[in-house]
Amino acid sequence: MLKAVSIKVPSDKSISHRAVMLASVSKGTTHIKNLLIAEDIKRTIEAFRAMGVEIRGNGVNIAVRGVGMAGLKKPSGPLYLGNSGTTMRVLPGILAGQDFEVILTGDKSLSGRPMKRIVGPLTRMGACIKGQGKEEMYAPLKIHGGKLKAIKYKSKIASAQVKSCILLAGLYADGVTSVSEPEKSRDHTERMLEMFGCRVKSNRRAGLNLPYGIVRARPKAESRTISLKGPAELKSPGAIEIPGDISNAAFFIVAGCILPDIKIVLKNVGLNPTRTGVIDILKRMGADIEIVFCMSLRAKRSNLKKRDCFAMTNYTYEPYGDIIARPSKLKGVTISSKEVIRAIDEIPVIMVSACFAKGKTVIKGIKELRVKETDRVYSMVTNLRKLGADIRINGETIIINGARPLHGAKVSSFGDHRTAMSMLVAGLGTKGKVIVTGLDCINKSFPGFERLLRRLPLAGPSQ
Ligand code: S3P
Repeated sequence: MLKAVSIKVPSDKSISHRAVMLASVSKGTTHIKNLLIAEDIKRTIEAFRAMGVEIRGNGVNIAVRGVGMAGLKKPSGPLYLGNSGTTMRVLPGILAGQDFEVILTGDKSLSGRPMKRIVGPLTRMGACIKGQGKEEMYAPLKIHGGKLKAIKYKSKIASAQVKSCILLAGLYADGVTSVSEPEKSRDHTERMLEMFGCRVKSNRRAGLNLPYGIVRARPKAESRTISLKGPAELKSPGAIEIPGDISNAAFFIVAGCILPDIKIVLKNVGLNPTRTGVIDILKRMGADIEIVFCMSLRAKRSNLKKRDCFAMTNYTYEPYGDIIARPSKLKGVTISSKEVIRAIDEIPVIMVSACFAKGKTVIKGIKELRVKETDRVYSMVTNLRKLGADIRINGETIIINGARPLHGAKVSSFGDHRTAMSMLVAGLGTKGKVIVTGLDCINKSFPGFERLLRRLPLAGPSQ
């Protein structure tokens, strides 16, 4: 019998950001339950406090007294957003609709991340927004919002940050704003906007809120266009509960697959279909992963039975459930660019799992990984090679020949939380110790990660 280790992962970062943002500009007070307590979310909270929003509490439960769509006040100085890319790229959508000037700054890493992707469309909508540099744009960003016009935007990249920024600006614009993306990115903004009473249109109905594993036939012409009509007002739903972060759970799912003798039980993890790519990929690799419960939080509150969830295709909030990961015989697979989008933040830890899998893993379409908190292709390839992994890059593809014995080494986080946590997970299965330098960055999304990891036994023969 496998010993069960039960772990509660911190709440979803993407949903936490959106909850604070939408609650701040809505009418009424929103009680946010189970908020992520981490550096990035603190940046979002502090930004709204600096613009006059009353946010009570600093723990997992906070109350946000919304000021309405145009109720934000000019802050007394620049807003420092630390390392938070989501705040830097999504908040401007709201600021574009405010009649004051504000400067957004960030740390060194954030100031090196591309911002043209939001500066371009917001400028087209009529906002006055300027970044540093000519070709690309970088933070600090200076934004002077005002009257906006609706646009139809065709994004070249599948990015939820870009989509969310434009949709939020669309709330302030006259007419229908739409965003089309090459592939569907995470849809937390759309779901939450609906919760706040805003109608968001998408003709991709299938699978929006079905329990994990239930697949409906897709409409023939699958649309990835999302639109909403402005000007719109948001109305607080009263309370929002945030599920655990599947990106954080991913580290423990992989740990559960590579460690012998234990099963890892992850409680209340968000299972939004736009985020479950990691489960699909690992299952294809042969991972023994079980989803034991799945129901929308709202459905649970209204006492709906699990079987009723199937009929809830129009339901808008987030599905969630428990995940059990058991020791697995992993095998290499080919991961398409499309799959990478549904697992964009989990690719580093999937690379770790590929090192423990028999055979070749090919990961295609990795371009966007290069513009995360660090260049994650470089950070992970450099680090895994130091442990003895057979890994190479061919254009926009990573190729890993797995199941080579890995040894201990000193590696770097490169200041990136997901690189740091992935390498700590790799260290569970190596012969000899893996030392990761620069672990402070983990506080960005998963404070307490190392403490939880220490609850797991080590797999390597001589640790
Ligand atoms: C996020 C979207 C993704 C993801 C990031 C969080 C979000 O970024 O990598 O960690 O909350 O919208 P992109 O929009 O750049 O793909």
